Amino acid sequence: MPYALGVDIGSTTASAAVCRRGEDGWSEAVAVRLGARSATVGSTLQISMDGTVSPRDVTGPDEPGPSLRSIRGYVRRVGDDVPFMIGNQPYPAHGLTAAMVRWVVDRVWDVEGEPAAQVALACPSGWGAHREGLLSGALGDLGLDDVVLVASALAAVAGHGTAGELPAPGVFAGYDLGGTGFTGSVVARRTGGGMELVDVVEHPVGGSDLDDALVAHVLARSGSGRAGSMSAAMMAWLRDSCAVARERLSVAAEAVVPVPTPTGQVDVVVTRAELAELVRPLLQPTVDGLARLARDAGTEPTAVVLAGGASQTPGLAELVAARLPVPVRSDPHPDGVVARGAALAARRVLTRTRPVARERA
Ligand SMILES: Nc1ncnc2c1ncn2[C@@H]1O[C@H](COP(=O)(O)OP(=O)(O)OP(=O)(O)O)[C@@H](O)[C@H]1O
Ligand SMILES: [Mg+2]
Repeated sequence: MPYALGVDIGSTTASAAVCRRGEDGWSEAVAVRLGARSATVGSTLQISMDGTVSPRDVTGPDEPGPSLRSIRGYVRRVGDDVPFMIGNQPYPAHGLTAAMVRWVVDRVWDVEGEPAAQVALACPSGWGAHREGLLSGALGDLGLDDVVLVASALAAVAGHGTAGELPAPGVFAGYDLGGTGFTGSVVARRTGGGMELVDVVEHPVGGSDLDDALVAHVLARSGSGRAGSMSAAMMAWLRDSCAVARERLSVAAEAVVPVPTPTGQVDVVVTRAELAELVRPLLQPTVDGLARLARDAGTEPTAVVLAGGASQTPGLAELVAARLPVPVRSDPHPDGVVARGAALAARRVLTRTRPVARERA
């Protein structure tokens, strides 16, 4: 069955969604499972000695020794003069991003049994022609010539909701909190279908910063002293435990973090309310930034749409609602919203209706 594919490569995860064409026409945008246990797959890449590039979640953890190396955070470095270096070998960020896109396209091809009729890729909203050109060139080198690039803030608004339909005309504020970064946006949806990115703001706060705050909190509560007294392996383990607990607190009233101390393990109980209070100082600037952006745009938004995995953090929707007194729309799978919006952009190319505009006021 022909399908339009949307891809979102973030600093933490990669996700994909498709619109399929059946006898009754095109379907809504639905997620395609990329990982073994979840719809998304980690976007950290592993490079083997022979230069093969693949997601680490798929190839397994780093083996001891120099045989495999991991690289993360490459999307936000597209356009940097300095490439990633593995030994003496340079790996430019646009090539790594294209390699991840190629892997996703091939994975979906396996799942769907045929290649995509059209691919759209969500890109950071502040990108200009230089970065887009670098990435398009790298995609072309990997056999992906006709990929449409769409600003992720536009895709986040378009992909919201479950019906796969664009929201009604109006001005929307987008709040996207990912693994390492926040993007706020104001998007206008015009009568007739066109969408326009009015303005965008970025802030270097994401889920990993919330993890850091929780690590410091449980260390203090356990009485085990400062992080410096712990081995790197112990610290990595504690950080992972905190990330699991933080995600669990999006649905549970409390979570337990086992903390290693010099006198044995101490189980620290963290409640939703405690987490919300702990991360509020980190999140407040993102919410204030979005409110300023909306005010400067000169129109009150119809709604705020939440996207990004970390937007599920307890207390966040309330913080947003307190600062922007309009309905706040969440999604059951916020880390897949941008890919769904990209799939709708790919579908529009195939149906030749009004394409998503990529403009700034
Ligand atoms: N249920 C959950 N509750 C809270 N946070 C969650 C949940 N699920 C995932 N996250 C967090 O979401 C973050 C990843 O979100 P997402 O996949 O949107 O990021 P990304 O797009 O890769 O990153 P970025 O947008 O910064 O480049 C991680 O920090 C993860 O811990
Ligand atoms: Mg993201």
